[in-house]
Amino acid sequence: MKFFIKTYGCQMNVRDSQSVEVLLERHGLERARSEAQADLIIVNTCSVRGKAEDKAIGKLGILAASKREHPERLVGAMGCMVQRLRESLFERVPKLDFAVGTRRFASIPAILDFIQSGQKHVLDVGTEDENFEALTGHEEGALSAFVNVLFGCDRRCAYCIVPDVRGREWSRPGESIVQEVTSLARSGVKEVTLLGQSVMMYGRRNPVWPDESRSPRGFVEPFIRLLEAVCGIEGIRRVRFTSSHPSGCTAELAEAMKALPALCPHLHLPLQSGSDRVLKRMRRGYLSADYRAAVERLRDAVPELAITTDIIVGFPSETAAEFEETRTFMETIGFDNAFVFKYSPRPGTPAAAWEDDVSDDEKLRRNKVLLDDQDQRGRRLNEQLVGNVVEVMVEGESLRNSARWSGRSRTNKIVVFDPVPGCEVGDLIRVRIDRAMPQTLYGSIEKG
Ligand code: SAH
Ligand code: SF4
Ligand code: F3S
Repeated sequence: MKFFIKTYGCQMNVRDSQSVEVLLERHGLERARSEAQADLIIVNTCSVRGKAEDKAIGKLGILAASKREHPERLVGAMGCMVQRLRESLFERVPKLDFAVGTRRFASIPAILDFIQSGQKHVLDVGTEDENFEALTGHEEGALSAFVNVLFGCDRRCAYCIVPDVRGREWSRPGESIVQEVTSLARSGVKEVTLLGQSVMMYGRRNPVWPDESRSPRGFVEPFIRLLEAVCGIEGIRRVRFTSSHPSGCTAELAEAMKALPALCPHLHLPLQSGSDRVLKRMRRGYLSADYRAAVERLRDAVPELAITTDIIVGFPSETAAEFEETRTFMETIGFDNAFVFKYSPRPGTPAAAWEDDVSDDEKLRRNKVLLDDQDQRGRRLNEQLVGNVVEVMVEGESLRNSARWSGRSRTNKIVVFDPVPGCEVGDLIRVRIDRAMPQTLYGSIEKG
């Protein structure tokens, strides 16, 4: 039997799909090269905005209809939208064979056996503790890997469905993460990205390090100790993490960024709004001054730090003037990149009870203004890098032009260059930047 997983949503979903792929292989199934060749297709779903759900439902509908030509084909859904819609998902997609929530991925092989024994419409959305250790598998041969460190989210921002669909915050034991990364490094992985919705909360709700243990450098915060441990694993050249929150941008993090050579100078630090009134209503747990102080603390330690962010436009009652505050604040911080989202009410969240009073046209306008600003700012910041030499991890042929190659800088920018003989995927090379675009740098390899 051949399977294919179609993934929507964030990096956590990408990682969840990878672990389920490995589970299915261990269960004797084979990866299909494309959806068309698959006997089992699973859609990994996202609920964060209405559009994300529409896409997943649309896809499931098409796949269910394809059973007319492929009567043996099984179609399943997994992830956040399953956790939210539960039984009602089967009303919306009647030919769906199974649906698995965010805490039950390890049971997918057993659910498949159940279905093959004739069961229909199997739903598993249990929230008892997941067997996370079953979900640490990775495909061989990668250069870069995602590693889960913190599951769920307890922050409950007013607009957000994630805490409802991903459950309570829970951190994996430090040792188990170190083991996973060590075995990744042995198989050739050089870069890891540690994942958690609010990753700096690592180890705050449950213990992750043995009481008597000490950090070699004397770090106290559980997350910083994790960074130190992972950066120390032989073969790991780059360590990243996401998503960050201003409350975790502590003096210890600043110190770690300075002291740990593998720790990359890039932070994805969602801002959401630059207006204090809106931030309060969003229940983000910081005001613009806190955000700014967090950034300054880290930039003092690591001046080359790149900062990317997420912004929501058209939050209930956001005025045009408050939107302008966001614009100005984004310029003050000088973001390297920004992902901008139109507010989408999510059923059951506090903000969904407030009138969604910014029209769709106005949300679209605000969205476009921020993206235009960001384009100019990105170009300007990148132009300042022209003439500099940056370290690039070679990823291979450039997407747009296969004669050129590309990789990423330590600040997570895409760098395009002409390959030279002997240059291989995974190499860390030095590239002199000679041209800049808002999202991409171009340059040539420096000898030596
Ligand atoms: N845990 C991460 C974000 C996860 S969701 C964090 O807090 O940093 C990714 C992004 O989607 C959020 O940062 C936010 O900008 C956006 N988002 C979340 N809920 C949304 C909603 N209801 N409408 C529009 N955008 C939303
Ligand atoms: Fe959602 Fe806020 Fe948690 Fe991020 S921190 S997942 S925005 S509740
Ligand atoms: Fe991620 Fe979407 Fe779930 S953003 S956590 S896949 S709701």
